[in-house]
Amino acid sequence: MEKAARDLAWRYALNEIRVPMMERLGLYERSTGETSDVVEKQMYLVSRGEESQGEDKMALRPEGTPGVVRAYIESGLDRSDPEQRFFYLGPMLRYERPQKGRYRQFHQFGVELFGRPDAAADAELMMMVDELGRSLKLELELQVNSLGCTRCRPAFRAALLDWGRSHLSELCQDCHQRLERNPLRLLDCKIDVGLTEGAPKSLDYLCDDCRRHFETVVQMVDRAEVTYAINARLVRGLDYYTRTAFEAVATGIGAQNAVAAGGRYDGLVEALGGAPVPGTGFAVGIERIALAARQSLALEQGAPNVVLAALGQAAALRAVGLARSLRERGLRVELLSPERGLKALLRRADRVGARYAVIFGDNELQRGIFQLRDLKASSQREVGESELLSAIVDGREN
Ligand code: HAM
Repeated sequence: MEKAARDLAWRYALNEIRVPMMERLGLYERSTGETSDVVEKQMYLVSRGEESQGEDKMALRPEGTPGVVRAYIESGLDRSDPEQRFFYLGPMLRYERPQKGRYRQFHQFGVELFGRPDAAADAELMMMVDELGRSLKLELELQVNSLGCTRCRPAFRAALLDWGRSHLSELCQDCHQRLERNPLRLLDCKIDVGLTEGAPKSLDYLCDDCRRHFETVVQMVDRAEVTYAINARLVRGLDYYTRTAFEAVATGIGAQNAVAAGGRYDGLVEALGGAPVPGTGFAVGIERIALAARQSLALEQGAPNVVLAALGQAAALRAVGLARSLRERGLRVELLSPERGLKALLRRADRVGARYAVIFGDNELQRGIFQLRDLKASSQREVGESELLSAIVDGREN
């Protein structure tokens, strides 16, 4: 997964940034948002015992964006060289009820683009998610929405609040709280789905600039031949988003099926004390992508091309040199234990999904040959060393 992510980052001219595992709690309160579930319920606070009294509270990072923005501002890039393209890979921690696809420590591949107010930046992010999915042979469904900006969002928020108040008796308990603290989250409710169908939609409240921006994002994504759906009910659980918000959903991995999510956060750099630089980004949940890719990839990538089954001590010594020659040719080689019998060796070859098994004992050594078994074609032949190497190197792609 991480290799696919790094390859993608290279193609999109992104540079790696590594940010700390721990930041001040206040950073998350001011960015992720005090009314978000993440800050309200899921933070792991770090304590140094009594000595820490009076110091700022520290927290383990629940997401990457705030730390990246903090580092970006602290290094002065927001003023000296604002246009930056970052990616990161690493663990995040959230106190959640664990289940399939939802863990307390999980890994994200995240991308943050700074200094790009234009729609092309958002479109490119969606292209990245699409391309990552394709490189892993996944079918992802991309959904996109626009949440408006500081100019048009208040009218939408007010309309949602009005709507919520007039449907109060029908809304679930959680929504009663959401209504007062963060009415946008009403649209996220899994219980009131039917009811909120009729609620106001952000797309109907966009100002002209936001509308044009959204239309351009969608046009560009179209042009890139990325399949997507506009989902007017899509809102995000983190508070910093403006304009574009998107999610990618995978099929067949259960309830926790959002494998990637992100959007634009134009006010965040300034809100955290930096210059007024726009930003946009997303993060992929590595474990969720891995769950979705399990069928299509696991065997293919984990399997050695070749296993070496040497029978006896003399063959085992010869196998060491042969393994080296094969690895030098870029092959993935597992040297099997010479202390096992042929049957056990073949069982192992089968179990690890190897393409070839090279089998040889004293008899083969004396004759200067190897038994080359093609496990895919279920055939076996005797070959000399140079033929062995070329057969395996040629056969690796098939
Ligand atoms: P997020 O939606 O909170 O956004 O998380 C992004 C992705 O991380 C989710 O779609 C999911 O795949 C994965 N994820 C989240 N929580 C868990 C969990 N408990 N277990 C497993 N996977 C999980 C963010 O974190 C934003 N920082 C994304 C972003 C970057 N927006 C702009 N830039």
